[in-house]
Amino acid sequence: MEYKIGLIHGDGIGPEIVHEAKKVLDAVCKKYGHTLIYSTLLLGGASIEAYGVPLTNETVDHAKECDAVLMGSIGGDPETSPWYQLESSKRPEVGLLGIRKALNLFANLRPVYLYDELRAACPLREEIIGDGFDIMIMRELTGGLYFGEKKTTEVDAVRTAIDTLTYNEHEIRRIAKRGFDIAMKRRRKITSIDKANVLDSSRLWRAVVEEVAKYYPEVQLEHMLVDNCAMQMVKNPAQFDVILTENMFGDILSDEASILTGSIGMLPSASLNETKFGLYEPSHGSAPNIAGQNIANPIAAILSAAMMLRYSLDLDTEADAVENAVKKTLANGYRTVDIMSDGCRQTVTSKMGDLIVSYLVEGEHKNAK
Ligand code: IPM
Ligand code: MG
Repeated sequence: MEYKIGLIHGDGIGPEIVHEAKKVLDAVCKKYGHTLIYSTLLLGGASIEAYGVPLTNETVDHAKECDAVLMGSIGGDPETSPWYQLESSKRPEVGLLGIRKALNLFANLRPVYLYDELRAACPLREEIIGDGFDIMIMRELTGGLYFGEKKTTEVDAVRTAIDTLTYNEHEIRRIAKRGFDIAMKRRRKITSIDKANVLDSSRLWRAVVEEVAKYYPEVQLEHMLVDNCAMQMVKNPAQFDVILTENMFGDILSDEASILTGSIGMLPSASLNETKFGLYEPSHGSAPNIAGQNIANPIAAILSAAMMLRYSLDLDTEADAVENAVKKTLANGYRTVDIMSDGCRQTVTSKMGDLIVSYLVEGEHKNAK
């Protein structure tokens, strides 16, 4: 089959990790007889450099013509990058939020899985890790505080800023349904996260999630307050299957969860709309401090490419092949610096991509221990 893939290389370490993900995609498609036709889209800092704005209509239209888009990361160092001298509506992150909204990518999936090989990189104690954990964070991505009315003003000569947290029942229902559908294919448990003891939007969230749950009697639903969830995540992560949550809580909880997998460099993500289309990106940022040094971990980008094969292109076997190749590479002791531990072999970004390709192509790598 032939597929159209948009590539957003992005800023910071983005181009390096997208390069590795593309290597792996090319290898898996060669192996299974598919053709990917790539085109490049500009977003964030790269778009500011070219057009003075972080997102253009051209990028949105172009993305709509693709079967899926794979992205690196966007943004620069706010202390030093000129992009952050621009008015707030023209900064790189606004481009990312803009494309999520323009393509209606309301469902953000962030799988938090501890590879057995990375137990040593997990900051939790052995007895807490137990048999490991496998969590799917379902983050609502186009509503809440990120997109509510905002303004910075002066009230009686006092600088005052306002952000608004708004959700309507349709927005809650569609992400909840998606969460329940995914839970049905997993261990059939949903923990819905809110702050219903304080926020109206959370009380509506809870009520609508309850309504949706009636259509999924086989799924066990529990509600948890977000502060408690932050604690439970490090106390007993294995209790979670699907975590369903709104935009801002999901942003924060997914960073917390990512470090449990050893490094945020391990955490992929898929952002989906009502169709098969998706934008796939690592959950980490652009890490400008290590850009261009060939030391970034490309695994989150490579696993995001695997999610793209699975969710947008329906290529489950090919996605499994990529994930297995990542697993074999880790099992054979190769690590980028962020997940390095005693007895392992430290590897640079490009080598990590090559190794994953070689395990994918050959099944077994010649240098395997
Ligand atoms: C993420 C990132 C973004 C977000 C930033 C870069 C705007 O942190 O994808 O988690 O907050 O959604
Ligand atoms: Mg984040």
